[in-house]
Amino acid sequence: MGGKKSKSSRKSDAVGSSKKDDDATSEENSKNAEKVSWRLVLLIILGLLTAVYFARVSHFSRPAKSVAPLFGSSVHVMYVFGDSTVAAGDFLMTPLPYGIDWPKYWFTKNEPRGRFCNGYTVADLLAKHLNIPIPQSYNSQDKKKRVKLEGTGINFASAGCGLLQATRPFVGFECNSILDQIHQMLYGPKIWDAKGRFDEAVYVISVGGNDLMFSLQGKDPIVFARQLGSEMGNLLKTLYEKVGGRKYFVNNVGPLGCIPNKREHSGLEKKCNQELNVAAVEYNRVLDEVLLNFSRISDDSTEVVVADSYKLFSLFLESPAVSGFSNATGPCCGLWVDSKGMFVCNGTSPLCSKSERDGYIFFDGAHTTASANQKFLDFCLARKICSNVGKQLLVD
Ligand SMILES: *[C@@H]1O[C@H](CO)[C@@H](O)[C@H](O)[C@H]1NC(C)=O
Ligand SMILES: *[C@@H]1O[C@H](CO)[C@@H](O)[C@H](O)[C@H]1NC(C)=O
Ligand SMILES: *[C@@H]1O[C@H](CO)[C@@H](O)[C@H](O)[C@H]1NC(C)=O
Repeated sequence: MGGKKSKSSRKSDAVGSSKKDDDATSEENSKNAEKVSWRLVLLIILGLLTAVYFARVSHFSRPAKSVAPLFGSSVHVMYVFGDSTVAAGDFLMTPLPYGIDWPKYWFTKNEPRGRFCNGYTVADLLAKHLNIPIPQSYNSQDKKKRVKLEGTGINFASAGCGLLQATRPFVGFECNSILDQIHQMLYGPKIWDAKGRFDEAVYVISVGGNDLMFSLQGKDPIVFARQLGSEMGNLLKTLYEKVGGRKYFVNNVGPLGCIPNKREHSGLEKKCNQELNVAAVEYNRVLDEVLLNFSRISDDSTEVVVADSYKLFSLFLESPAVSGFSNATGPCCGLWVDSKGMFVCNGTSPLCSKSERDGYIFFDGAHTTASANQKFLDFCLARKICSNVGKQLLVD
């Protein structure tokens, strides 16, 4: 490039001092050159910061979609309650390859871990769609650093637990039930209260699957569903009355009997566990009723969106190819560990390749891939699985 030299001299003129003396010493020249290079460095840093800023902004904002917004008024912050389907801070249980496809940005840390997924969860994708920050995990916070969480929302979700206090995958397994999570919000270190914007927040609730998998055994599914429904009703009531929540995004429970962990127990044919699916359907029926009752007793500013996870995954499992999946039954990552009756996904487990990943519904023995989660949100926004409770007639 022939212009290099003249460019740099032009630059040195532009930034140079008024001294244009003929007797400018070489010392001065080198001082000027130093100044120039410092300014260049500053400019480059500024440029980089701007680039990173815009990369982050565009990371959160996507081009407006031609779909009706999920909520009637704007949402500024997200609080998440639930289990591993939306957890974001279970670091010890989610070594790589969990988070392996989380988008990496220049300058920013790769911070996907803590999620039972190769990339974004549905809660993450919803936050991105709403153009609000992805809430930070309560469990990953230094509770003394108050400032950090102000206005950014919090994710209380915890893997393994559920609506009932008794629900745990194994004896002695530590996790936070919904009751624990609501206690954290109400009475935990109030790092968020000043700018919590509770009435402008969306409350994402994704829970119930673990209760059905770990606490149903031997009980009447209809009675059990009512018991879970009653806990869900309590959660909504507390968020509404004590926290001031007005916008809710609740998904029902999918066909749990068809997750790889359950199929593996059903002999060579690896069929779905129909008993568990029937119990899930029963709970989902009660959930609809609970949500409808809640929407009736709450004020006009209250909006409840329900996502029919069961319908979506039934569709995917019935005709995976039509939905863009090539593997609907096995986990992308996982080694069958008989003693615990589930697949374990860690650094030494078999892992499907990057090019195969989007074709899998399940990333591990129980959780869906980022691509399945993206389809979940797309189907929701297209109103194929999401509806506004009590306001179905207003849609369209
Ligand atoms: C919903 O409300 C109706 C009328 O108050 C009541 O009979 C029913 O039990 C409630 N359903 C649930 C699941 O709480
Ligand atoms: C799905 O993936 C599992 C591995 O997790 C594999 O065993 C199975 O054969 C795959 N099924 C199909 C239809 O590719
Ligand atoms: C991965 O899980 C398997 C099965 O539980 C275990 O034997 C192995 O030690 C684990 N590997 C790592 C790196 O944690």
